[in-house]
Order: sequence, then structure tokens, then C-alpha cells
Amino acid sequence: MLAYVWAEDESQLIGKDDQLPWRLPVDVKFFKDVTMRGDVVMGRSTYETIPNRPLKDRRNIVLTYQDDYDAPGAIVVHSKDEILKLHEDSSEDFYIIGGATLFELFKDEVEELYRTVIHDTFDGDTYFPGDFDYSKFERVKYWSGVVDDKNKYPHTFEVWKRV
Ligand SMILES: NC(=O)c1ccc[n+]([C@@H]2O[C@H](COP(=O)([O-])OP(=O)(O)OC[C@H]3O[C@@H](n4cnc5c(N)ncnc54)[C@H](OP(=O)(O)O)[C@@H]3O)[C@@H](O)[C@H]2O)c1
Repeated sequence: MLAYVWAEDESQLIGKDDQLPWRLPVDVKFFKDVTMRGDVVMGRSTYETIPNRPLKDRRNIVLTYQDDYDAPGAIVVHSKDEILKLHEDSSEDFYIIGGATLFELFKDEVEELYRTVIHDTFDGDTYFPGDFDYSKFERVKYWSGVVDDKNKYPHTFEVWKRV
């Protein structure tokens, strides 16, 4: 199974200056709980935003055009086909965790979506693909996250499955 896991604001913004535009620890925990079930797949830019990379206790797969890219503890791949082959040969679910270029790349193959919508708008420079076709998916679950001193922004966790 191939899934996307991401958080976006009300304008589908996902990034700013190679970082997340917000701080929402409860979403970080959700991300961890979901991705611990399988392997994580990401673009080279997203990989470099992780302070203590690679992400622990998950196989990290990093996509780059650079032949000599070194990512200790991660698997480096150079094409979409290489990722699909790894997936085919694996019994693990693959969680694609960004960024925008990866969310663009696997639009036709992705089967499940784990989307956190933050009910606010932020400044930034990177957006989830605006033409993503949600009509091919059904939202099977959603719930509001807890807002408190550490998690200031109202947000909704959603799970979608391809129909
Ligand atoms: N809100 C969220 O949930 C979320 C999740 C993830 C990321 N983000 C944010 O998104 C931003 C990063 O996203 P991004 O779209 O700029 O970058 P990205 O998708 O993380 O990485 C882009 C890089 O991936 C490699 N790549 C992409 N397509 C490829 C292909 N077909 N073949 C080989 N290599 C390929 C290239 O690496 P090389 O340049 O090395 O060749 C490219 O520069 C950051 O701001 C980050 O914080 C947000």
C-alpha cells in the first residue's frame, strides 16, 4: 500500500524556507504513529529538513537526481520507477512524506491519504498540488485534534482511501 502523509493549511500550503510553517506537536505525534507502520519515502529537500536524520525505526528512502548523494542510514534512489520496484519487492507499506514534488509524482499510484488540515493560513512557498483529484478518494475517517497551550491551531486529522 502506498500512502501520503502530510499537513496543510487552509490554502494547501505545506512549507516555508524548507521548514514547516507552523509548530503543532500533536501532528508530529500523529505523523510518527502513522509512519511507524512502514517505510518512509521522501524527496531530498524534505530529508534535509529532518534534524536527526534518518527518521528512527523506519526504513528511509530518499529520492534525488544526484548520483553521488550520501544519506547515511537511508536508501538513496534516483527515479520513481526505482521506488515502485522497491515497493513491489517489499511487504511493507510505503508512506510518502513529501515534499510537493513527491506528492505530484505519485498522484496516480497513491492509495491512502493521511491529511492534517490546519484551520488557519500561513506565509510560505511550497504547496500541495492544487489539482489533486479528491473525487477518486473517499474520506473514511476524520476527527478534530486537541487545541491547547502547545497546539494553538485548530486542526482536523483525515484518512482517505481510493475508491
Ligand atoms: N507540511 C508537510 O506535511 C510537509 C511534508 C514534507 C515537506 N514539507 C515541506 O516541503 C518543502 C520541501 O518540498 P519540495 O517539493 O521543495 O522538495 P522535496 O519534494 O522534498 O524534494 C525535492 C527534491 O527531490 C528530488 N526529486 C524530486 N523528483 C525527483 C525525480 N523524479 N527523480 C529524482 N529526484 C527527484 C530532487 O532532489 P535533488 O535536488 O537532490 O536532485 C528534488 O530537488 C519544505 O518546505 C518542507 O518543509 C512539508
